[in-house]
Amino acid sequence: MKKYDYIKRKIKSLLDSERYIHSLGVEKEAVKLGKRYDIDIEKCKVAALIHDCQKNLKDEELIEKALFYGINIDKIQKKSPQLLHGPVGALYSRQQFEINDEDILNAVYYHTTGRDNMSMLEKIIYIADIIEENRNYFKGLDEIREQAYIDINRALIMSADSTITYVIQRKNLIHPLTIEFRNNLLLEVESYEKKEKKSL
Ligand SMILES: [Fe+2]
Ligand SMILES: [Fe+2]
Repeated sequence: MKKYDYIKRKIKSLLDSERYIHSLGVEKEAVKLGKRYDIDIEKCKVAALIHDCQKNLKDEELIEKALFYGINIDKIQKKSPQLLHGPVGALYSRQQFEINDEDILNAVYYHTTGRDNMSMLEKIIYIADIIEENRNYFKGLDEIREQAYIDINRALIMSADSTITYVIQRKNLIHPLTIEFRNNLLLEVESYEKKEKKSL
């Protein structure tokens, strides 16, 4: 993997200043969450820093790069090419930053849609992206921020709910991975509660 400082400089050159500040905010949040949930802080830092590395690309550029990296573009991504900034960002990072850690790459790949059975790092990047300090306020943000440090799965369900509601209100398409993401979280929370009850 390239050195952290090199990656940081490169990210600064790839993004406009607002997105760069957002990326640093996600990094800061991911470090705090990494400590709370006891996972590798270096992984949190790098994954957060690079998560939006391809976000400044235009729709046509994202499609072109996705094809270049051999990504199978589904019909929803075709209609909303911005969904590709995660997958393209992951493959770009593997090539340009020589990152081979699958967990970091998956955290970048799935940070917009979520997916079934996410690792703790994937969950942290997903939620840090939503709650970092520079995020524009939306209804429910404070509750999600608080919940993220109490029970990350519940915070993720709250944010999946708000994302899905937003997408429906705008009459946009919902990616099936987002549905799987939410279903899986509900099941995870439910089985955790059952275990808790048993142990009482
Ligand atoms: Fe993003
Ligand atoms: Fe982001």
